[in-house]
Amino acid sequence: MATVTFEGLEVLYSRQQIAERVAEMGAQITRDLNGEKLVMVGVLKGAAFFLVDLSRAIQADATFDFVATSSYGSGLRSSGAVKLIKDLDQPIEGKNVLVVEDILDTGLTLSYLRKFFLQQRPKSLRIATLLDKPSRRIEKIEADYVGFSIPNLFVIGYGMDYGERYRNLPDICILGPGHPE
Ligand code: IMP
Ligand code: MG
Repeated sequence: MATVTFEGLEVLYSRQQIAERVAEMGAQITRDLNGEKLVMVGVLKGAAFFLVDLSRAIQADATFDFVATSSYGSGLRSSGAVKLIKDLDQPIEGKNVLVVEDILDTGLTLSYLRKFFLQQRPKSLRIATLLDKPSRRIEKIEADYVGFSIPNLFVIGYGMDYGERYRNLPDICILGPGHPE
């Protein structure tokens, strides 16, 4: 049954559902690591909430880094090109890297980042995304770990924003149908 939070927003995944899924993902990632070390690379700002929770569900010797990207072009429609506005602090050559993202949508951001990270010759590169919207994909890319696969809804909360607002909602809520572009 759909629950309603403040401002009348419909909850898509409650904090409890998120916590359960994140725990499962952490256990899977721990198994796949086979005792090796991990560098978790979060994509700011949306993935920050997911990264801190996921990291505590992974039993491994882990370190953290963050990158930030933005889309070129002004106006409502992005030009499709992505640029890096915050680089890694530490080199990832020879490391097991887990890229942590909030939403895999068109795939433009993660395709750009994957290429950028692979140029730096990590030992392994995997992607964990909390949400996946496969119907919106432009670039051919899949995540290795997906929290929830969702239809074309615009969601907010648990790190995800609309015009920088709503990131601090504890649940993932629906703002409306589709991307507000
Ligand atoms: P992509 O390059 O289209 O895959 O963009 C992914 C990014 O778009 C995510 O990291 C989010 O910042 C943003 N995004 C896509 N869909 C949503 C949404 O439903 N709510 C909030 N942000 C979104
Ligand atoms: Mg984002």
